[in-house]
Amino acid sequence: MMKAASDFLCFGPYRPLYKLTTLLFFVAGSVHAQASGDAKAGESIASKGVPPAVAACSSCHGAKGEGLAAFPPLAGQGAAYLQAQLAAFASGTRKNAVMEPVAKGLKAQDQANVAAYFASLPSGIASPKSVPVPDPKDVGAWLALRGRMNDGVPACASCHGPHGEGVGSNFPAIGKLNAAYMQSQIDAWKQGSRGPGPLELMLHIAKKLSNQDVEAIAQYYAKQATAAPATSK
Ligand code: HEC
Ligand code: HEC
Repeated sequence: MMKAASDFLCFGPYRPLYKLTTLLFFVAGSVHAQASGDAKAGESIASKGVPPAVAACSSCHGAKGEGLAAFPPLAGQGAAYLQAQLAAFASGTRKNAVMEPVAKGLKAQDQANVAAYFASLPSGIASPKSVPVPDPKDVGAWLALRGRMNDGVPACASCHGPHGEGVGSNFPAIGKLNAAYMQSQIDAWKQGSRGPGPLELMLHIAKKLSNQDVEAIAQYYAKQATAAPATSK
């Protein structure tokens, strides 16, 4: 399986789409079977929590899951991704003192329901009609859209979409993550406090990103969000 992934990692930008299709296939296959969720039941958890132990998700992640500063956006993330993160917080493979008790307080079916609810909301990040051509002097744009081939860093866009809008249910949107949160996750992979995720894809990429790289990428995405107000997704 890693063969397919490493194969994928060494190519240029936007090389044939079938590569991404192949990867999606392997990633989907590597994610454990998950219960399917009821978005309606999830909405109640999001707005009211599960008293007394679990606070309303909206109190930290925003009324519509739009996120706020250190609280990442949940709206529009794939249900499989959200559910996998909740399971990881509960089991401790993704370490976070705030989310651990929240996730542990939710039954597997609650996790599936709340994941289905947030997945049903719009992320507010529009996919561009055509793939932008990056300015070689803009480090963030170049890393996001082309990667750094001589160092084996693939374009973020190849898995997260050109505006970081996310692809399928397992490749999350990253276009609205603030720089500090993005950095904290890259550090978590480097330090082993966040599990490697599907095919260890991000573990390998994180190790090759400097703090300056991450800052530049986050700034690039923030610019896209202001330049092209979202209409879809
Ligand atoms: C007290 C504040 C707080 C509450 C309440 C809260 N969260 Fe979180 N959540 C956080 C923080 C902080 C993080 C970032 C964790 C990290 O840095 O790894 C997070 C991260 C997450 C993530 C990972 C997102 C990603 O992009 O990987 C998911 C999923 C999540 N929360 C779901 C929920 C759900 C569902 C609820 C309600 C049942 C909820 N949270 C309630 C603070 C909160
Ligand atoms: C080969 C596919 C692939 C590429 C290329 C890729 N990612 Fe990822 N990324 C993933 C996967 C899969 C996940 C979900 C990991 C998990 O489930 O824990 C992810 C998750 C993330 C997250 C966590 C999102 C969150 O909400 O917590 C960040 C941040 C991230 N990637 C940044 C980047 C950046 C920056 C680049 C470009 C330098 C990049 N990724 C390139 C596959 C990829």
